[in-house]
Amino acid sequence: MHTGLAPPVTPHTSNPASQFPQFAEWLSALEARHLADLRIPEVTRALRALSSAYVERRDAVARGATLDSAGKRAAFALFYAPLHFLTTAHVVQALGAADEPPARILDIGCGTGAAGAAWALAAGGAPAITGIDRHPWTVGEATWTYRQLGLHGRAKQGDATRLPTLRQGTAVVAAYLLNELTAEGRARVETALFAAAAEGTRVLVLEPIARGVAPWWDTTAARVRALGGRADEWRFDVELPPMLRLFDKAAGLHHDELTVRTLYISRAILPGL
Ligand SMILES: C[S@@+](CC[C@H](N)C(=O)[O-])C[C@H]1O[C@@H](n2cnc3c(N)ncnc32)[C@H](O)[C@@H]1O
Repeated sequence: MHTGLAPPVTPHTSNPASQFPQFAEWLSALEARHLADLRIPEVTRALRALSSAYVERRDAVARGATLDSAGKRAAFALFYAPLHFLTTAHVVQALGAADEPPARILDIGCGTGAAGAAWALAAGGAPAITGIDRHPWTVGEATWTYRQLGLHGRAKQGDATRLPTLRQGTAVVAAYLLNELTAEGRARVETALFAAAAEGTRVLVLEPIARGVAPWWDTTAARVRALGGRADEWRFDVELPPMLRLFDKAAGLHHDELTVRTLYISRAILPGL
């Protein structure tokens, strides 16, 4: 766990962009889908607005304003979703989370489906994915993502703070979701996730490293460690595919590495054992 003094860990993981040929095909399909009606400068402007909302305008994120225009939705789908895919694929590999492929993956706050898809592909493509998101636009997008990547999955509209009953062999991922919830909503998700972990469900949470975004991190990380899980901060070298590089540069974002922090419970410690 990063204490604030040590730098994030840089593990040796292979590059998911070259490991999964489906990834490049998905990027081309995304480009065709979202640049049919929008021009690159429009998406770049929306990407700047989206990025500043994530960093500075937390009220806009909480209201769901990050997906309130066609430009922002395209910017999310074309830029952030592939970045989240690459980051999740690296993390899953570094944690060994795909060594025993889960039978099913529940992706809560799935957006366009990137995180669940990355875990499923890293696990060999067999896990069936269910995505849940409150925003109606994401449902079609995530289902389309699963199909493009050759995965079995479907998404539905729903509230991530109310977890469905989980069948045995299900793993849950919550990528960049918890910081968008109210304190009450997050507490509900944490309680449900930790209860599921105690019953044998694997749980993976990803969040941005910026401290201001998740002031609750240390407390939640301590609960995860008490359950036998781990909390990590990561840094992965990345060479962005051309389309992502173009948007990254145009929006002044400078991603020459991917950073993320994660909570992972693989096998919970059960009281009394
Ligand atoms: C930053 S996006 C991350 C999307 C995706 N997990 C990824 O990694 O690309 C956060 C997502 O959480 C969704 N979300 C926020 N609050 C939610 C809630 N209470 N229930 C379901 N989804 C929610 C938003 O609609 C958005 O799609």
